[in-house]
Amino acid sequence: MKNLVKIFATLFFIHAAGIAGGNTTAALKTAGDRNMNIEFVAQKKLFVLTTENSTYAMGVNKSGALGHIYWGKRIGTPGDLSDPISGLFHVNTQEYPGWGEYFFDEPALKMTYSDGVRDTRLRYKEYKITENAGNCELRITLKDSFYPLKVDLVYKIYSDCDVIERHTIVTNQGKSPMTIESIQSAAWYLPRDKSYRLSYQTGRWGKEYHPQEWLMKQGKAVLESRRGVSGPDYTPFFWIDPEGLATEDHGDMWIGALHWAGNWKIIVENNRDNQTRITGGINDFDFDYVLQPAEEFVTPLFSCAFIEGGFGGASRTWHDYQRNHLMRPEKANALMPLIYNSWGAFTFDIDEKRVFKLAEIAAGIGVELFVIDDGWFAKRDNDKCSLGDWYPSPTKFPNGLDPMIKKINDLGMDFGIWLEPEMVSPDSELYRAHPEWVFQFENRTGSQYRHQLVLNLARDDVKEFVYKTMHDLLKNHNIKYFKLDNNRYISEPGWTSADLKDQKSVLVHYYRNFYAIFDRLTKEFPDVLFENCASGSGRVDFSMHRNFDRINRSDNQDPLDMLYLHEGFARVNLPKLAGGACHISTSMAHINGRHAPMRYQAHIGMLGSLAIGQNLFNCTPEQLKEMKGYVDTYKDIRHITQRGDYYQLLSPRTDKRAVYQYVSKDKSEAVLFVLGQSMQFRDKLPNIRLQGLNPDTLYTADGYKPMSGAGLMNIGIPVNLRGDFDSKLIQIRKK
Ligand code: DGJ
Repeated sequence: MKNLVKIFATLFFIHAAGIAGGNTTAALKTAGDRNMNIEFVAQKKLFVLTTENSTYAMGVNKSGALGHIYWGKRIGTPGDLSDPISGLFHVNTQEYPGWGEYFFDEPALKMTYSDGVRDTRLRYKEYKITENAGNCELRITLKDSFYPLKVDLVYKIYSDCDVIERHTIVTNQGKSPMTIESIQSAAWYLPRDKSYRLSYQTGRWGKEYHPQEWLMKQGKAVLESRRGVSGPDYTPFFWIDPEGLATEDHGDMWIGALHWAGNWKIIVENNRDNQTRITGGINDFDFDYVLQPAEEFVTPLFSCAFIEGGFGGASRTWHDYQRNHLMRPEKANALMPLIYNSWGAFTFDIDEKRVFKLAEIAAGIGVELFVIDDGWFAKRDNDKCSLGDWYPSPTKFPNGLDPMIKKINDLGMDFGIWLEPEMVSPDSELYRAHPEWVFQFENRTGSQYRHQLVLNLARDDVKEFVYKTMHDLLKNHNIKYFKLDNNRYISEPGWTSADLKDQKSVLVHYYRNFYAIFDRLTKEFPDVLFENCASGSGRVDFSMHRNFDRINRSDNQDPLDMLYLHEGFARVNLPKLAGGACHISTSMAHINGRHAPMRYQAHIGMLGSLAIGQNLFNCTPEQLKEMKGYVDTYKDIRHITQRGDYYQLLSPRTDKRAVYQYVSKDKSEAVLFVLGQSMQFRDKLPNIRLQGLNPDTLYTADGYKPMSGAGLMNIGIPVNLRGDFDSKLIQIRKK
């Protein structure tokens, strides 16, 4: 973040009906020392957003509507831009298209007013530009030409990346309620006359982050979730590149991320005029929201960027954006502790005595945080009961949690705990006391999955219960890590106690309460790490990164599958977030029954935040010694893997070796992971060419002669592997 900001004051520019005024600009310096700014060009009625490498422009047309003009590679001057389209066709490129007039594509807003009219016509009213430390913000106000509806479009750009962050605020300024049928966070337009490739990710339990692509013709791609959580069928991210020519290292692309943990939708539409528009926000499927007089509806953020540098450049853009702008600052660059998690070793069969013994062994191999997973509470001996009864099992932990926590602390480790607070087992004290707290429709019984039902967090009494459960646990015990789990989807979202008119807004209220709970907890307990687990990566999106510091990348610990999973995970998520219950564990290779050497498991774990789940009682002294060696290596390199830049040099999908490289931000150190699958025929494989180093610096690596950064990047180094699941970790340091 060198030269990050050359501005110290906060300035405001407000123009009521600003198009009559003169030019207005908010400007900062980018990390690359170029000007970045938000500019209003009065004469042409244009708004121009300039980031380090991109330009985004829109303007007010003759009808008074706000039309999109350009988004792409940075241009020289606003004079280069064309005027916004007027006449009948202006509706096709409206910056935030309301459904109405002569418009037939995917709308950003669809309303029904109190008199039944369903035609929305948004016209420009005013704007405000704000300049802050490190970012500039533009707010453009539109109003319906007749109905009392105000729509604020908010844009934020940053001095250290090309991301444009948008959201929309819709306000009912009238005296009667109006119904929102669809409210998207933003619509984005790509330059016309190209065919584009859409890349996206699909998944399911145990197979998250699977890459897909579609070379688009006229048509519409719908990426969405209807499961009540943001994943894992699709992830709320897209990558679009012209003609499908981008590679890992090269090529222009438009990328996007929607920040919403519930049902969402991203539509990529190439219409009859070959205009590609991306619209995204809360899913309008099974959705209606009655907006009361004076009420505001604030959409989730939708962040997008035009970037150069292919998929790798896209990953690094997202990684820095998460680190610098999404995550809790005190956690973003904190090093992740070496974790032991009890799930792989014990599943539900956990108790105080065994934890005591296991903790001693764990401390001996250098574990820093000991997490007890499922099975510690009430009568939880299997997955059939007790969710909701969050007190220690009287038989397994007769002395409560504190003696165990003390023992773990005395051994020099922090203590962490597992909870699934949004859920309830029908066989639980909680359900017997509050059967009305679960989701289900009148005259129907809610479907159970894993013998559990979902609590309706939209209810304020449920919200209070869930908050208090977690708050009290964290307040009354020395807990430093909180693993949030979520093992089923939200089906049948009936809210039996609410008004008929509010039924279809239930999941919006659910997530507002969900965010409020975790916003509050992370403020109250700033030194606790929060893990986002939903049977693996079932609910991973950028809204979760605000409060969660680690993600269960997948329940799948199959060595081969993990290579693929990591590649997809790191394409968007900061690699240091890549956790899991048990990277080093033989018991968790259950998906395919495939086993790999401990070294291989450890290396894959070290790509993110390493955890051990092996039943340590069953380990020989030699195995424990080997494990300690990996723990030491992890501690030695994690400042690079967790704070540095990430490069995918070879993909497991196209090469026998998956190769991932991490480089410290000052380019003085790097770590190379070379992970083989099945090597054959003693093939002579190409040198591995590194990236992101300083060309003029001399580097050393064990087993190799000293080489300059330029040499390592252009000539590369040979790395030979043998047999199945061989791997190497190579540390590279400035000489
Ligand atoms: C699913 C999680 O992904 C696992 O890590 C483990 O916590 C189990 N749930 C416990 O039920």
